[in-house]
Amino acid sequence: MAFPEGFLWGAATAAHQVEGGNVNSDFWALEQQAGAMFAEPSGDACDHYRLFGQDIALLAELGLNSYRFSIEWARVEPSPGEYSPQALAHYREVLEACHEQGITPMVTLHHFTSPRWLTELGGWEDVDTPGRFAAYCGTVFSELGPLIPYACTINEANIGRIIRQLLDSGEGRSLHREAVLGLGAETTDLGVEKLTESVTEARRGQLPGGVFLFTFSDKGHDIILRAHTLARAAIKEASPATKVGITLALQDVQARPGGEREAERIWSGQFTDFLPALDGDDFIGIQNYSRIVVGPDGMIPAAELETELTQMGYEFYPQALEGVLRRVAGTGLPMFVTENGIATADDTRRAEFVRLALGGVERALADGIDVRGYFYWSALDNFEWMLGYRPTFGLVAVDRATQVRTVKDSARYLGGIARRNAVS
Ligand code: BGC
Repeated sequence: MAFPEGFLWGAATAAHQVEGGNVNSDFWALEQQAGAMFAEPSGDACDHYRLFGQDIALLAELGLNSYRFSIEWARVEPSPGEYSPQALAHYREVLEACHEQGITPMVTLHHFTSPRWLTELGGWEDVDTPGRFAAYCGTVFSELGPLIPYACTINEANIGRIIRQLLDSGEGRSLHREAVLGLGAETTDLGVEKLTESVTEARRGQLPGGVFLFTFSDKGHDIILRAHTLARAAIKEASPATKVGITLALQDVQARPGGEREAERIWSGQFTDFLPALDGDDFIGIQNYSRIVVGPDGMIPAAELETELTQMGYEFYPQALEGVLRRVAGTGLPMFVTENGIATADDTRRAEFVRLALGGVERALADGIDVRGYFYWSALDNFEWMLGYRPTFGLVAVDRATQVRTVKDSARYLGGIARRNAVS
């Protein structure tokens, strides 16, 4: 079966994970702290701030027609209300490189990292943050709007909720123990209150009072949604033709007998609670890596499912994507798979993961579900947050000593699918 004409075939990255030297961001400051929650600091990352031209050309050469990347707020607005013409010129060059290579850009405005000053002012629990975020988005789109056909305001706006659910369930101790949180064993064993406390404590040294995006509180939830709504309005005002959406991390929540009610509660917390803010969006970005299985006693840790685990400790379960697409289809919003991928040292498993995941996309399309693109996470082996550079999600390997790129077979496999606009 062929995919619809104009289907976007791409790979994704995020600024902090690939650019290098993101010194004005809150994560950079956190990484430098004594006893940091990070396996290693991001450092030069993949030097993508300098090497973006060759990286984008490589994606085009492979056969992809799209690239999802993020613009770094900390670079564009290094201090409150002061915008950097140099940073804006840089992102103009990145966007122009995409267009020159026949690559449709999809731009994320916030991918986990914030300017350090924002976090010091209270970050994602401060009532002024939505207005500040919208002002930054407005500036970016006044300058660059005509070059950006698709914009994602906030990456995985529901990540704080998910972390909280995992911790509440005890699953945080295994599935996501070091993964999403990467906070290390001692903190994840503590439960949500202690965890919030220790995160705040860890930040206190250099980022007084700040709360970065992984906010667990109801106040934080409302602030994130308001930031999305205001940002969408600011983007539309500056660049009416740009299509705007949000991205959500969505696991396929599956119930075993007796787990139905709890499974529904988990899904609502991750998804349904976010629906009011999506009213007025042009699309929704689906980010999926695996499933959650819920039994009568709650979430069953992936390690207990006796199945293949990825480098992240997630279950190898690419079928999850189809489950999520079918569930979200009810909103009527067009969907892009803005992230789907696997961390593995065995590249044959990556190709197989992609093949099985895309089989699910095909079946969803055949049933009339509106999916418009697929972005593999990630284009490059990159900085996997608190886990550092150990997990390898990339289609392309990066030697960080030389910054030499090596294309993996899975990249050619996905590129072939993109060229044919069909899996086989
Ligand atoms: C995030 C990425 C991250 C990926 C793999 C997503 O939650 O958007 O930044 O690297 O998952 O863990």
